[in-house]
Order: sequence, then structure tokens, then C-alpha cells
Amino acid sequence: MSAVRNTLRPCLGAVLIVVAALALTACGRDEPDLSNGKAQFVQKCGSCHVLSRAGTAGVTGPSLDASFRAALQDGLDRDTVEGVVKRQIANVRRNSAMPADLVTGDNARDVAAYVALASGKTGEDGGALAQAGLAGATSGEQIYTAAGCAGCHTLAKAGSKANIGPSLDDLAAAAGDREKGKSAEKYVREAIVEPGAFTVEGFGAGVMPAYEGRLTDKQLQALIDYLLEE
Ligand code: HEC
Ligand code: HEC
Repeated sequence: MSAVRNTLRPCLGAVLIVVAALALTACGRDEPDLSNGKAQFVQKCGSCHVLSRAGTAGVTGPSLDASFRAALQDGLDRDTVEGVVKRQIANVRRNSAMPADLVTGDNARDVAAYVALASGKTGEDGGALAQAGLAGATSGEQIYTAAGCAGCHTLAKAGSKANIGPSLDDLAAAAGDREKGKSAEKYVREAIVEPGAFTVEGFGAGVMPAYEGRLTDKQLQALIDYLLEE
């Protein structure tokens, strides 16, 4: 009998350690990943919402800086903001322009945590967050995705299929003919930094956010080259 106990005891101790370790990793997983939240926000939400810290300028939905700045001043805390954002993602009202479940699971949790942290704040994100999302994008395709272009445009090589704006699949052919005296490259540059300057027939003016000042010169050039390469 006692021999059995003696072999069991150390064994139980090991089991307890394993349980504790599991509990710890589970806790670790519950911490939101703010860098992922920012990256997801920029890709999936920024085409419709202003959030200054994320560098997004969409105008289809309300500015989340404005929405939550007022609420925070009225005494709402940032945890409550997080809950509001989570609920909005999962339960958009019927007929809303905002698609439901754009992000789910851990991604939804991360987006909500990032919006709660960032909304209503001026200035720039520091630390690892500074490089998350658009700031860290270097190739044309990364920039296209991180800047939220995919949320409104079809572009087969980037895997995007939205149709709020014109398809960019044959842009190289179309761009040279859009505006008299403007080369394809000049036209595409203008279309990105100052979309208000020219509106493609059949599409709404004022829908595409202006990217003026939101891309570095290098990013803008990489994006133009990527869109025009055949
Ligand atoms: C296609 C455009 C579009 C996209 C993409 C979009 N939204 Fe919205 N959003 C809207 C519109 C329009 C509203 C206004 C309320 C409504 O229609 O439900 C809204 C409302 C909201 C609100 C409520 C704001 C308030 O003042 O009450 C939050 C929070 C929000 N969106 C967060 C997000 C997040 C987070 C994402 C990305 C996961 C996202 N939205 C993606 C269009 C969009
Ligand atoms: C919220 C939706 C939206 C987002 C986000 C958006 N666009 Fe657009 N885009 C449009 C609409 C609508 C038009 C057509 C109206 C106009 O000309 O402004 C357009 C027009 C264009 C055109 C001109 C196309 C042509 O056939 O002449 C280009 C180029 C373009 N967008 C590139 C981009 C790029 C690159 C991004 C990301 C950096 C982007 N767009 C983000 C909605 C969007």
C-alpha cells in the first residue's frame, strides 16, 4: 500500500505543475494582441472609419475618434468602449453599410482592444505598435492590403473582390485615358492622394478616402508601380 502511495505522490505533484502551466498559457492567450488588433483594424475597418492613431481616414462610417472621445469625456471607461466595439462587430443593425463579422474570435477581441486603446487620442503609437499595420508595409501588395484598398476594390493579383470602387485589374490600360494630358502614373498618383480631383463615371464621389500624407513617398511609389505593372 505504502509503496503505491510513494509512487503516486511525486506523480500527483507533476500533474499539478502541468495543470498550473496550462492555466498560465491559457491566461497568456487571453491577453489581447494589440499589434494584431491594429493591423486587422487598418485592413478591415479603416476604409470606412477615421481612427487617427491607426492612420485611417474612411468616411462611410462615423469617425471612431469622434464617437468615443465624447463618450470617454462623459465618463465612459475604455473597457466599456472595448465592449461596445465587440458588440458592434458581432451585431451590426440590419441594413447597415457595415458588414457583420468582418473579424471573429481572437481577431475581434484584438481589434476591440486596440480601438479602445487608441480612440480619441492624438499623436502616434509608440513601441511595437508603431510598426503594426500600414507603417510596417513595404511591398506594393502589403501596402495595398494594409491601406484598406482591398475593402473597396477588386484586384485579382491581391485576392481582393470588393466593388465599391472600380476594378483595378485593367488599370494600366484605363489610367492613361482618364484625364487629358495625364500619364497613367500621374493619374494613379492623383487618384490615390487626391481622389476628389477626378471621379470615375458611374461611381460615387467622396467615397474613397484621400491618402495624402498617409503613405510615405516610398510606399506611394511602390503602390503605384504595383498597380500599373502588368
Ligand atoms: C463598409 C464600411 C464599414 C466597415 C468596413 C466597417 N464599418 Fe463600422 N460602421 C459603418 C457604418 C455605416 C456605421 C454606422 C452605424 C451602423 O450602420 O450600424 C458603423 C458603426 C460602427 C461603430 C459604432 C460607432 C458609433 O458611433 O456608434 C463601431 C464601433 C464600428 N463601426 C467599428 C467598426 C470596426 C471595428 C470595423 C472593422 C472590424 C468596422 N467598423 C468596419 C461602416 C463600416
Ligand atoms: C471606401 C472605399 C475605397 C477605398 C478604401 C479605396 N478606394 Fe479607390 N476608389 C473608390 C471609389 C468609389 C472610386 C471611384 C470614384 C473616384 O474616382 O473617386 C475609386 C477610384 C480609384 C482609382 C481610379 C480607378 C480608375 O479606374 O480610374 C484608383 C487608382 C484607386 N481608387 C486606387 C485605390 C487605392 C490604391 C486604394 C488604397 C490605397 C484605394 N483606392 C482605396 C473607393 C475606394
